[in-house]
Parts: sequence; C-alpha cells; structure tokens
Amino acid sequence: MNGDVIARYYKSYGVEIVRGFMQYVWDSRGKQYIDANTNHGVAFLGHSNPDVVDAVVEQVRRIVSVPLNFGNEARDAFARSISTILPPGFGKVYLQNTGTEAVETAIKIGKKVTGRKTIVAFTNSFHGRTMGSLSITWNEAYRRAFQPLYPHVRFAPFNAPHAVDKHVDEDVCCVIVEPVQGEGGLSVATREFLGALRSATKERGALLIFDEIQCGFGRTGSVWAFEKYGVYPDLFTAGKAIGGGVPIGLVIASDALGEVFQPGEHGSTFAGNALAMAAAAAAIRHFVERDVPTVVRAAGKALMDALSSVKGRTALRVKGDGLMVGLELRVKAEPFVERLLERGVMALTASVNVLRFLPPYMISEDDIDHIRRALLEVLQ
Ligand SMILES: Cc1ncc(COP(=O)(O)O)c(C=O)c1O
Repeated sequence: MNGDVIARYYKSYGVEIVRGFMQYVWDSRGKQYIDANTNHGVAFLGHSNPDVVDAVVEQVRRIVSVPLNFGNEARDAFARSISTILPPGFGKVYLQNTGTEAVETAIKIGKKVTGRKTIVAFTNSFHGRTMGSLSITWNEAYRRAFQPLYPHVRFAPFNAPHAVDKHVDEDVCCVIVEPVQGEGGLSVATREFLGALRSATKERGALLIFDEIQCGFGRTGSVWAFEKYGVYPDLFTAGKAIGGGVPIGLVIASDALGEVFQPGEHGSTFAGNALAMAAAAAAIRHFVERDVPTVVRAAGKALMDALSSVKGRTALRVKGDGLMVGLELRVKAEPFVERLLERGVMALTASVNVLRFLPPYMISEDDIDHIRRALLEVLQ
C-alpha cells in the first residue's frame, strides 16, 4: 500500500479501503464490510452522508480557510446549528481540530479559571495522545516512553463514589471523566459516581469536565451522555462524529464561566476552518432532522440483544450503552477483530479483552444479524 513512507502508529490489517457509503465500506477487491469501527466512532452519521457531502462540496468551492479574527458564514451556520443541541446554560463553544486538542483546551480553562494545578482523572481513562491529554490517560502502554508527563495528576478509581472526597482537595483545578469509557473498556459511569464528582468539585471550587468525544453526540441514545444522569459538568468536550467525518474538536462551557481567554492566550491555526464548520453544521442538522438519538436507542438495544445471544465459553458479558457496545471476552480480543474482518465486519478492541462495536446510527436489523452470525462463527 504506502510502503515505508508513512510512519506507522497502528498495526495494519493489510486491507485497502477505497469507498464508503453510510454503514458500509468496500475494499480494493470489491469486498463489502459492515463498519462497526467507524474510525473509532467518527463515521457515526455514515460514510459520505449525502447531507454532509453536499455541504462540504459547496463550501470547498467557496472558501476553506478563514482566520478566526475574521467572520465567516460557515462559522455562523455552525453556531446556529450547534445552539440547537446545547443543554440549557451551555452557550460558549471553543473550536479545535481534534479530540486531544479539545481536552488540552479544557485543562487550560480549568487551570486559568481556578489558578490551581492538580488534575484528577480515573482508572482506565482515555483522553488523547498529546502531552497534557496523555498525562491524564491511564494506560501505561501509551505513557511509558514519554515520561515525565504533566506531574500534577491523580488517578482515582472509576465508579467509586466513596473514593472521590479523598482525591478532590483544594489544590484540584479540574476533574475529568468519560461518562462512558471508550478505549478503557466500555464501562458506564453510575449516577452515584457522577453525582459524587459534582458535589466534591462544587464544594472545593474545582471544575468538572465530562469528556464526550466518544460517547457524546447521540452515541448512547441521548444527545449528550451526561444528560441521562441529570448531572451537569462545568465543561464538556465533543469531537469525532460531530464533524460528519471532517476533523473537529470542541469544548462546550457553562455560561457561568464567561469569556475565559484573553486575546493571544489560546489559539489554533486550523480551528474553525470553513470546511469543518460547514461539515459540522450539516452533520448537526442531519442529526436533529433524523432524531438520531431515538434511532440509536432502538438499534442499540437490538445490537446488545444480539451480542448477549452469543455469550458462552469465550464471551463473558455485554457492556456499554446505546451504539457504544462491548463484548467482554475471557481472552484477548485483538485476534477476533481479524477474524471478523474476514467475515465482512469491521470492529475494534477496547482495553485488552473487549471487542468494541461503534457502528453508524443507521445500522439495520440485517446488519446486526450479520454481526451476530459472524460472532457465532469466530467465537466457537
Ligand atoms: C474519550 C476520548 N477523549 C479524547 C480522545 C482523543 O481524540 P482524538 O483522537 O481526536 O485526538 C478520544 C479518542 O479516541 C476519546 O475516545
């Protein structure tokens, strides 16, 4: 394929993907796959979703790059469109290009607003690969080669409400948590845990950040995963799917924080570029018009039922929420990703022993049945 020119970050499956449409992709030999990988959740609205394609093509012909110190109608359209899906009291959006950049921005807001240094994160967390985000990411395999990281980080146990008080003291600027952990293994936060984080941060003057880069934008069957809990953070992040396939990262902040940065204190060359803005505006319009969260709730239940039906000697239990689903195995999950690929299903791993499924929201009953049959074959 690309020989040795492109530096390798991930293992290669030796398959060249040439085309995608909605929940399917095709390789260079014409083989069709159900895409339950979606590039770690990005293609949630489907590949080459026609609504997004039309908006992107029109924008590319008009203009792609406009500095943030100039106005632009694509950015205005994005502002109008995202306003329709923001929870009450969350009216400030910080534009970035990737998830990890959004996390970096959220941390900077936490430090700037509180003037403090310590960040609390959780066991099995994943927040990205740049140095700040990596410092609050749990997996030692991702961290080992890059020490020293940001030193003022405390990892507290995930879903342990009773341990929260001990970790959140007056030195903490922010607490960051994924309401549903993606990379770390599809664990779903309990209401009691998020509630304990909210109380402790409020009491000690720290900011609470929910990282919704993977679990947000309808993936769990509500617009934002935290809305199901009735527990509201001070800021939350979004990324992946909300760009309709085009790179984007966002921090969405509570109005109470006001305008945080002075001009020059923060920035990013590509942030708010007209291409990403037009794509995200179209993606959000599609999301609202199709009432994606409602579709996800039904499809998610069907997928979870299908995965539950393959439990047995190798598959232990089903985890996750909505269309963010994991099948926990008694053995390593990675070899099964390749076996599923042979059967026309693209999936992912999460942690070591969880097979992860992040399909587009329009996955059909037939697709789910195909996944079920493929799993029965590979797991026996
Ligand atoms: C919860 C969460 N936060 C942050 C990130 C980092 O996003 P990106 O890869 O776009 O930098 C990811 C990516 O998987 C993620 O799942």
